[in-house]
Amino acid sequence: MMAETRLPVEASACGKVILLGEHAVVYGRPALAAPVCGRRARAWAEPLPPGAGCWIEAPDTGERLRLSEAPDHPLARTVRLALEHLGLPEPDLRLVLRSELPIAGGLGSSAAASAALVRALFRWADRTPEPEIVSALVYEIEKLHHGTPSGIDNTVIAYERPIRFVRGRPPVLLQIARPFTLVIADSGVPSPTRETVAAVRAGWEREPARYEALFDAIADLVQEAEACLQAGAIEALGPLLDANHRILQELGVSSPLLDHLVEAARMAGALGAKLTGGGRGGNVIALVRPEDVEVVARALRAAGARGAFATEVRAD
Ligand code: MEV
Repeated sequence: MMAETRLPVEASACGKVILLGEHAVVYGRPALAAPVCGRRARAWAEPLPPGAGCWIEAPDTGERLRLSEAPDHPLARTVRLALEHLGLPEPDLRLVLRSELPIAGGLGSSAAASAALVRALFRWADRTPEPEIVSALVYEIEKLHHGTPSGIDNTVIAYERPIRFVRGRPPVLLQIARPFTLVIADSGVPSPTRETVAAVRAGWEREPARYEALFDAIADLVQEAEACLQAGAIEALGPLLDANHRILQELGVSSPLLDHLVEAARMAGALGAKLTGGGRGGNVIALVRPEDVEVVARALRAAGARGAFATEVRAD
């Protein structure tokens, strides 16, 4: 019998933004999130000679590890989980991971990296994973990265659709009557989600009633925002983002730089703006009319953002 020749395979996963509801979502409140389809993590799987083992390379972070020798590394755990799910032994395989998403930037870099690896391994095995399988596997790795994640990042990245998310429940696909445009700007300050989630938890333990009231106020904004999206009332969404940012300030997860970026976006004509994700660093989002993308992106760069790009949010 002729030896089987396998061709390399490639898979990818998008980034994400939280539109409204971060942090409160950890405490059972709803949140809205959308994929960022234009910024992705990519994984390639290519065969190695028999006996070579499974190697994982992440040139962006300079990591190169052998699966059998790094049992606790999150990338190795991801690969092992996917292989277990597929019922496969360690293959002779080179996995390469690259990402366009900033690490600890609030855009779901860790979940996207895991999802790209999981998809590449499924493709390698000639299987197509359902989004709920990708989400469940990636969630296991998110727990290693973030401690007590709500599950929103792995869910929106696995479904690659805008969602309403409540912890522990299946996601609801968002009805979006009119697509809208966001400018996403990077403060350039990495801020691990694990740390901001822990800071909010410490505040909640100190002052539970105050924090619960803030989470409830965020939940009200989420509900209003969902109604705006369903009605195509995009202009009305802006003040809701602003209000959510103010509550995030009160929760202690903004920073002078994030506040400055948000203010610069508003001054340049954004309909509303807020931090997105864990906060204290990472990215901000600004809701803009399509014709204002350039002026708002320029204002954000002038205010200190490392980079700014636009993304469109639509239902399909
Ligand atoms: C992270 O993208 C959003 C947070 O709410 C944490 C979580 O939901 O796990 C800050």
